[in-house]
Parts: sequence; C-alpha cells; structure tokens
Amino acid sequence: MKKILVLSGSLRKDSLNTRLAGYIATNLPDGYEATSFDIGLIPLYNSDLEGDNTPPNVQHFRDALNTADGVFWTSPEYNYAIPGVVKNAIDWASRPMMPKNSIVGKPMNAVIATMSPTNGVRALADIKRLWNNCGGYSVMVYDTVLQAAHTRFVDENGAESLEPIAKKAIDLCIGNLVSAIELNAGATSLANWEALVASMK
Ligand SMILES: Cc1cc2nc3c(=O)[nH]c(=O)nc-3n(C[C@H](O)[C@H](O)[C@H](O)COP(=O)(O)O)c2cc1C
Repeated sequence: MKKILVLSGSLRKDSLNTRLAGYIATNLPDGYEATSFDIGLIPLYNSDLEGDNTPPNVQHFRDALNTADGVFWTSPEYNYAIPGVVKNAIDWASRPMMPKNSIVGKPMNAVIATMSPTNGVRALADIKRLWNNCGGYSVMVYDTVLQAAHTRFVDENGAESLEPIAKKAIDLCIGNLVSAIELNAGATSLANWEALVASMK
C-alpha cells in the first residue's frame, strides 16, 4: 500500500482546506492510503533547536514525510502568499540539508481552497516553487484553485463530497499526483539534489 501524506495549511476548526483534505484522503485510488499530520503542532523555526535539540513533533513531521510516497497540500492563501504555518512547516522539513532533507525527491501536489471568487493562485505558485527549491517535485499540470470553496461541498449519502465541477478538478489533481508517484517523477529532483550536494564537497 502506498502512502500519501495529506496536509492542511489551516489550523481553524471549520477550515475549508481541512475539509478538502478530508475529501482527498477518502478518495484516493486503490492501492493508496492517506496519512495525516497536524502542522499546528510544529513550533516556530529556530536553528538552535536542530540536532540533539530537535522538538519531537518536528521529528514526527519529518518521519511522516520520509515514510510517504507523495504529499498533498491543501492550504489557504493569506495576503497573497502561503500562511506562515505552511512556510514554517516547509522550513523545518528543509533541514538538515545534508545529505538530503525530507522533501528531496518527494512528489507533491497542492490545491488552494479559498472563499474568494478570484484569488488563491499566488499561494499555489508559492508552495510549488518552495517545494521545488527544497529538492521536491511539484506537479505543475494542472494548477487548481478551489475558489468560492464554501459553496463547493455537498453531502453524498452521508459522506462529504464536492459538486461535479470541483470534484472533477480535484480528482484530476489526485490522479496527477498518483501518476507522478507511479512514474517515479521525483527521481530527477533527487538526482539534481545529489549533484548539488556533490558539487559542494
Ligand atoms: C489573514 C488572512 C488573509 C487572507 N488573505 C487572502 C488572500 O490573499 N487571498 C484569498 O483568496 N483569501 C484570503 N483570505 C481568506 C481565506 O481564503 C479564507 O478565510 C479561507 O476560508 C481560509 O481557509 P480555511 O477555511 O481553510 O481556514 C485571507 C484570510 C485571512 C485570515
């Protein structure tokens, strides 16, 4: 069974992104299971806390990344960027750099759920760029923002689902991440990272 770590970038109880993460986690294809981690448990980044002083929840987060075959982020956009909690989680995951961090070679897809009818694309570009900068592999086709997200959820026989247009888009995003995992798309990112590390010796 392959694992996809499904993460929400919102800490609030009624978060639309956490609801979307729930939809994704329960709609993975056969052969895949979802894992999760609450990024609200991670303290603010401080390099004095690396090494022997690593906070347990940071190590748990890194372990969750290391044991996942891929990652699916859902996140709000805050002030035209990713929320601080998401940046903080990525900063912790990006260390230690050598020989590789927990993001290197890891396929990732992301969707921004927003109440806005127009925004979200800037945070999506942010998170994919950051992930690639850390040595990960971001799925770039097909960029998806779930706008007016508060109008998209529907009840389907007692289970939370999405209206047909949103469902088609989100299911495509899930499928694209699964394709990236199956095709080992992160291999090039891993090779590039190893070349970078070798060049620093
Ligand atoms: C501090 C703050 C800044 C925000 N800035 C944006 C923004 O730049 N773009 C956007 O689409 N929505 C913005 N929003 C609205 C969020 O998209 C909306 O609150 C969304 O529901 C948050 O996601 P959640 O439901 O998962 O918590 C902002 C909300 C907050 C609290």
